[in-house]
Amino acid sequence: MAYNLLKGKKGIIFGALDENSIAWKTAQHCHAEGAQLVLTNAPIALRMGTINKLAEEVNAPVIPADVTVTEDIENLFAKSMEHFGGGVDFILHSIGMSINVRKGIHYTENNYDFTHKGFDISSLSLHRVLQTAMKMDAINEWGSVVALTYIAAQRVFPDYNDMSDNKAVLESIARNFGYFYGTKKHVRVNTVSQSPTRTTAGSGVKGFDGFINYAEKMSPLGNASADQCADYCVTLFSDLTRMVTMQNLFHDGGFSYTGVTADVIAQMEK
Ligand SMILES: NC(=O)c1ccc[n+]([C@@H]2O[C@H](COP(=O)([O-])OP(=O)(O)OC[C@H]3O[C@@H](n4cnc5c(N)ncnc54)[C@H](O)[C@@H]3O)[C@@H](O)[C@H]2O)c1
Repeated sequence: MAYNLLKGKKGIIFGALDENSIAWKTAQHCHAEGAQLVLTNAPIALRMGTINKLAEEVNAPVIPADVTVTEDIENLFAKSMEHFGGGVDFILHSIGMSINVRKGIHYTENNYDFTHKGFDISSLSLHRVLQTAMKMDAINEWGSVVALTYIAAQRVFPDYNDMSDNKAVLESIARNFGYFYGTKKHVRVNTVSQSPTRTTAGSGVKGFDGFINYAEKMSPLGNASADQCADYCVTLFSDLTRMVTMQNLFHDGGFSYTGVTADVIAQMEK
């Protein structure tokens, strides 16, 4: 059901790779709520993925940008502002990648060239996007920026590898930049800490099936789906959450505050 929560708003969605992507669902939900969109992803992802299908569905142009390249981000904002005839009201940062995870390199053995690359893509990119937006004055007053994260930023999940460190820094950047963008232009910046979700990035984590089933049993409401995450992002882009900023918001069915559940105890007693 749509409520027109984003009627008249303009947004940029980073990270829609395929139909499973959280960004893909978020673009669909934002469109249903009345927003106008620009879609973006890394040039290589645009070649491999099926983003044009989504672009057609939500009536949005696709502008390539590698988030590690400042000129690409400048070009993205310039073209988006031209397309919208002004600044943007919201941005979804739905980007993550670790070469150490992909190659199955143990955390204690991480290759630092890979660590740097993953950090640049997964964490520093949020700073780069916000810094470029601020310089170009690309985000409107009371705009909203959401980046997706995972609870491994706070607690140890052994196979999440260096993405744990990347997410910890991502959340810190949201807080710190949120302060400066808030005082300068009332722009709010938050992270949404999502349940494990079956996507290309999610499934890359070793032992993902065990991991997602465990989270399901440890969450009083069960795991939050990608569609539900999209709904939550819509509320954060809307005017109903104007005073929420610099927060890490758990969207996880209660997982983060649960010590143990009856289901897990029953499993342990078998
Ligand atoms: N899937 C999960 O279990 C889960 C849980 C919590 C948080 N998250 C986070 O949600 C976000 C979206 O991931 P997803 O699960 O939808 O997977 P996904 O693989 O569909 O999305 C990741 C995106 O990052 C993009 N990307 C990678 N390198 C890039 C670059 N250099 N420039 C621009 N874009 C680049 C990819 O092309 C892809 O579109 C990520 O931040 C991820 O860490 C995922």
